[in-house]
Amino acid sequence: MLNKNKMYFYIETYGCQMNVADSEIVASIMVDNGYVLTKCINKAKFLLINTCSIRDKAEQHIISRLLYFNSIRNHDSNIIIIFLGCMAKRLKNKILEDKKLVDIIAGPDSYRDIPRLIQSFIYNKKYTINVLLSREETYADITPLRYNANGVNAFITIMRGCDNMCTFCVVPFTRGRERSRDPQSIINECYDVHNKGYKEVILIGQNVDSYYWNHEFNIFNKYYSNVTFANLLSFIALSLPDLRIRFSTSNPHDMTEDVLFVIKQYDNICKHIHLPVQSGSNKILKKMNRKYTREGYINLIDKIRDIIPDCSISHDIIAGFCGENNRDHLDTLSLMDYVKYNFGFMFSYSSRPNTLAFRSLKDDVPEQLKKQRLMEIIKIQQEHSYFRMSQYLNSWQEVLVEGVSKKSNLFLYGRNSQNSVVVFPRKNYSIGDILQVKINSFTSATLIGSSSS
Ligand code: 5AD
Ligand code: SF4
Repeated sequence: MLNKNKMYFYIETYGCQMNVADSEIVASIMVDNGYVLTKCINKAKFLLINTCSIRDKAEQHIISRLLYFNSIRNHDSNIIIIFLGCMAKRLKNKILEDKKLVDIIAGPDSYRDIPRLIQSFIYNKKYTINVLLSREETYADITPLRYNANGVNAFITIMRGCDNMCTFCVVPFTRGRERSRDPQSIINECYDVHNKGYKEVILIGQNVDSYYWNHEFNIFNKYYSNVTFANLLSFIALSLPDLRIRFSTSNPHDMTEDVLFVIKQYDNICKHIHLPVQSGSNKILKKMNRKYTREGYINLIDKIRDIIPDCSISHDIIAGFCGENNRDHLDTLSLMDYVKYNFGFMFSYSSRPNTLAFRSLKDDVPEQLKKQRLMEIIKIQQEHSYFRMSQYLNSWQEVLVEGVSKKSNLFLYGRNSQNSVVVFPRKNYSIGDILQVKINSFTSATLIGSSSS
């Protein structure tokens, strides 16, 4: 039997890690206001969907899910659909007026307002909306409800928004200006998850290297008036020496040498840097407003390799940006060849309304050619991933166990410091254990090994 009196809510999340972390904040706000989380969509009265606008394909997929939510609401008029996240900010009018697909809309900075929006909707029987962006909101004091976490790794948001204004990107429009979270609340949250048994934190933000707290901050009996990302990393690493620390995403323009020295200095900071390059052509980087050159990027890669020789590096690359010709594409391939990334995320360019590229550049690479270039990029990446994985053969890797292998419950999987997935026989090991695994074989995506005991 359904029990809608219990005010069950269900939440579905699309997009990046920031959205996953935001859904945990939303869940926490809902529960604090008396709502009850369910993983069963058919049980819920409130259907929440946290959305992503990064590419057209993501939006199309979300619209089809929204239509499904609507088909459920068609059978039960008590159901309330709550639209959250980046699409909520970007498409509020279209979603509301065109199709009346949703009842409540809340943008990325308005989640504290959801309980009021619900009350207002129920009272007025009219859709309600809040998509105001904030210069301050960081949800610093809210303890996320980690309803989907594996109990091993926890996302911790350290900053929000982005000021970089890459010409292809909707994020500055959907998530607003950059702002950093109070370091004390970040460190408190690290202690909190550590006390709850988590073994790893992933510090997230659109651009973690531009983290900056310019108020007074006291730690280890010392006052700091300007806290940088490097400072924050070292404070966390020192405070919690047996907590593994990862972070994402870095912008090559903002990454400084002192961050590299901090990564090198502390064993508990994982040796992996996600460093989106987007293109290997200076002409395209300029059109993208990336604020670094191919040479500057290569210089940074050399520095990483020099300071942290065992560091893995991953990328994001966009194929077929405005004005990209075959020479530009070859520049991207040759840059990949130089770096030989461990892994990467590759996309074909999707023009996003209102971005600078949409307004002032021509989306002139035919779809077919974008696809072809993307396939070439993916193929090269697979070869590089295979090469990088081969370098681990016969080595011992320290692995944090995250779960049971999807292929066989006789095997567990986890990650090494460099963020490669390692699969090994289960024996008596448990999720959350840290152990040494000897690598016996590999694919381009997985290391396969055995433990010592
Ligand atoms: N088209 C294709 N890919 C994009 N990304 C961001 N905006 C677009 C777009 N308009 C990619 C970038 C970014 C990653 C999160 O998504 O590579 O780093
Ligand atoms: Fe998608 Fe970007 Fe929003 Fe994340 S910040 S949900 S990737 S549009």
